[in-house]
Amino acid sequence: MAEMKQAPAGAPMTQKLMTWVDNRFPATQLFKEHMSEYYAPKNFNFWYFFGALSMLVLVMQIVTGIFLTMHYKPDASKAFESVEYIMRDVPWGWLVRYMHSTGASAFFIVVYMHMFRGMIYGSYKKPRELVWIFGCAIFLCLMAEAFMGYLLPWGQMSYWGAQVIINLFSAIPFVGPDLSLLIRGDYVVGDATLNRFFSFHVIAVPLVLLGLVVAHIIALHEVGSNNPDGIEIKAKKDPKTGIPLDGIPFHPYYTVHDILGVAVFLMVFSAIVFFAPTGGGYFLEANNFIPADPLKTPLHIAPVWYFTPFYSMLRAVTDDMVRILVGIVAAAGVLGFLFAGLKGLWKFAPLVVAVVVAVLLKTFDAKFWGVVVMGLAVLILFVLPWLDRSPVRSIRYRPGWNKVLYGIFVIVFLVLGYLGIQPPSPTRNVIAQAGTLFYFGFFLLMPWWSRLGEFKPVPDRVVFHAH
Ligand code: HEM
Repeated sequence: MAEMKQAPAGAPMTQKLMTWVDNRFPATQLFKEHMSEYYAPKNFNFWYFFGALSMLVLVMQIVTGIFLTMHYKPDASKAFESVEYIMRDVPWGWLVRYMHSTGASAFFIVVYMHMFRGMIYGSYKKPRELVWIFGCAIFLCLMAEAFMGYLLPWGQMSYWGAQVIINLFSAIPFVGPDLSLLIRGDYVVGDATLNRFFSFHVIAVPLVLLGLVVAHIIALHEVGSNNPDGIEIKAKKDPKTGIPLDGIPFHPYYTVHDILGVAVFLMVFSAIVFFAPTGGGYFLEANNFIPADPLKTPLHIAPVWYFTPFYSMLRAVTDDMVRILVGIVAAAGVLGFLFAGLKGLWKFAPLVVAVVVAVLLKTFDAKFWGVVVMGLAVLILFVLPWLDRSPVRSIRYRPGWNKVLYGIFVIVFLVLGYLGIQPPSPTRNVIAQAGTLFYFGFFLLMPWWSRLGEFKPVPDRVVFHAH
């Protein structure tokens, strides 16, 4: 047992209490390690608000979720009514429900910004690979959480959205039909589906999510934060104190800084919750105010906006697109054969792989490949630390055209998102296909393009202009 510390005689009650606690639980030590003696780079900018904001929204979703669960009924014959009851009769129920439904969209907005920050400052690069990987796992969980949550109000879009997405799994060869049956718990979306989605949404996924967020922060604090210059502040420490020269204590500097981000966020968030809670049909679709009717399919079924870039990629994979993919795979095989510089029999490996992939592409249905493409669009993020071969982290010191490329990436992602909300048309399909090719090209060709061009010299110390 560690030696018991003693508060000095005549010390204030609070100090005595803290000493008592610290002798039993390392509260002060944890606070120091993660707050007052966690040295963060002094040049954080507004992009660094979004981690704290993600945490705020996470807490808000959990708290509002607890109150919703007190009044919600996970029963196909009562769910819709119970949500109406929350909206009309439960004191402040309308606020709790709108905070939770708008909170889902807010979560994705702040998380997308947070991820993009990681991309432009190369925060996923060594030694922060695990911080990024935990982040990607969080993103996957968030998608599952939002998808299952949307079924719970048992409106038309809840019902048909779930029907469409669960049916996608049946496109998987061999196991597909059984898998979708397992997810639904019935031959059609029904009470069994609602019950299992409820239990996953309310307890299973949030537990995993919380665990992952803790792992995310522990990993971050182990290696230290990156910054807009992408410089390792631990490389230059004060020889006497061992504190990074460009570091400042997270508390009070960034706790106060984050209050600004939180204040701006809450203003925008409240404006939406109070004046436009459905976000013009983007946060809560109009069809979801109609009770689920298994006999009446809505004319146009679209997922909520945060899924639509990926949904667009799914729809982009038609038979034509599969033919284009076969062409690309064949070209990559030939290029690999000619230029990969492999020796002996290995020289033929790119050709063999290309033939196998091309045969597989032609063997299975385009619908299945659509599902694969949608899944890969998320999974590819996990390997980003190994795709980026640039010698510097931050976009500030990369060749100027990198900014244009990242700009196009954002535009393509937004266009894919827009197209995913719209009903498909031949022109829209072609644009979605081009967007999908760009999205994958951006990542798959990154090992090549991230090394190209003139890199600017990275300064020794972080660049910071006090305001
Ligand atoms: C519930 C969701 C999440 C929460 C609560 C969260 C929380 C945080 C916090 C508090 C920080 C430190 C402050 C900051 O750098 O902004 C951070 C850093 C980071 N997060 Fe997240 N995060 C979440 C999701 C994600 C996702 C989805 C990714 C990427 C796929 C990600 C990648 C990163 C990276 C790379 C850093 C280090 C950034 C740097 O040092 O420059 N996070 N996160």
